[in-house]
Amino acid sequence: MARKPLEFHLNGAEKAVFVTEGQNLLDVLRRGVGDLTPKFGCGQGTCGTCTVLVDGEPCLSCLVLAETVAGSQVTTVAGLATGNSLHPLQSAFMEHFAAQCGYCTPGMLMAAKALLDRNPGPSREEVVEAISGNICRCTGYEPIIDAILAAARTGAARHYG
Ligand code: FES
Ligand code: FES
Repeated sequence: MARKPLEFHLNGAEKAVFVTEGQNLLDVLRRGVGDLTPKFGCGQGTCGTCTVLVDGEPCLSCLVLAETVAGSQVTTVAGLATGNSLHPLQSAFMEHFAAQCGYCTPGMLMAAKALLDRNPGPSREEVVEAISGNICRCTGYEPIIDAILAAARTGAARHYG
């Protein structure tokens, strides 16, 4: 199968890889550049655990053609912490027990980051809406919603942009 070069930025670092026709972004992130933080769940756009940001917008990476992110800024959970300091959303998820098995957590965090970046003071309803495409089988959602609201109160969006 023909392979094409692809250059993009991942969590601020330049990446150059070869992709095959039709290869999705999730596959390129996990197998092409070794970022295992976005998870494969359904592979059909229905679970949200593969959510990453492309130029700041939340995207289901299993549905994004890799070649379409050429020149873009892609952000994953691996890009949230600063050195040894967790992002306020990550700290809030820990403090509010918002992760059990953790499989949905990367997608939840990225959906939450996208929300707080555009709306630093969301209502509970806005948080529910923002994570409505992200399925969690474990928590019952309330701890996740509480964590996102707590992170908003600490100024998560202002903290790291
Ligand atoms: Fe992409 Fe489920 S793996 S939405
Ligand atoms: Fe297990 Fe959400 S913590 S799926």
